[in-house]
Amino acid sequence: MTPRSFLLTPELAEYVRGSCETPDDVAAALVAETAALAERGEAPATFQIAPEQGAFMQLLTRALRARTAIEIGTFTGFSALCIARGLPEDGSLLCLDRSAEWTAVARRYWDRAGLGNRIELRVGDALPSLQALPVAETFDLAFVDADKTGYPAYVEELYPRMVPDGVVLLDNTLRGGRVLDPHSDDDRAVVELNAALAADPRWETVLLPLADGLTFLRKR
Ligand SMILES: C[S@@+](CC[C@H](N)C(=O)[O-])C[C@H]1O[C@@H](n2cnc3c(N)ncnc32)[C@H](O)[C@@H]1O
Repeated sequence: MTPRSFLLTPELAEYVRGSCETPDDVAAALVAETAALAERGEAPATFQIAPEQGAFMQLLTRALRARTAIEIGTFTGFSALCIARGLPEDGSLLCLDRSAEWTAVARRYWDRAGLGNRIELRVGDALPSLQALPVAETFDLAFVDADKTGYPAYVEELYPRMVPDGVVLLDNTLRGGRVLDPHSDDDRAVVELNAALAADPRWETVLLPLADGLTFLRKR
């Protein structure tokens, strides 16, 4: 049989998580505060990336030797914390999100982690913020985790702003398995984008079945 990825049972998911670097005290407190927000109905419970994905993105940022990074969809700041930790002292991460309320939580934790000076946050609709960036402002790494119907436009705007060999990561590209049976506009947008990217000669594309699907795009 061809080796293939498989859906994890809760027990295996726990095992995978336990086999990755454990979030430190600041990251753990941020995860706990975000869970408390969700319990009070003040934030969706499913927004934050999984801890093992955060550990992977931190390692990847460092392994790619990324110095400049951009994130679209920041929420309470966990994925940004992981990326920023992987950057060198003089590295920078630009975060775009339209929620002033959720990103206020993010700022508190970035400061607590001593990373506030590495992260710039722009609150507002992400697409105009991205379009307003000069094309000469290039990025080594991008992480996209906002409105799914916006992904095609984000990818187009990111393309000229990535350095050659720059990597774009797209989150939730398996849509909980619904890519095989799309239920919503968000699902359909991701299915169309996945197909388009696999055939797009500008990018080298890999969809990794990590967490809810993480697509890697390397700019050729
Ligand atoms: C899934 S959450 C991001 C989770 C985050 N990456 C983390 O790991 O904690 C999606 C975020 O995208 C933001 N968002 C959605 N649509 C947006 C848009 N059009 N412009 C800017 N931000 C947007 C939401 O405010 C929300 O904070």
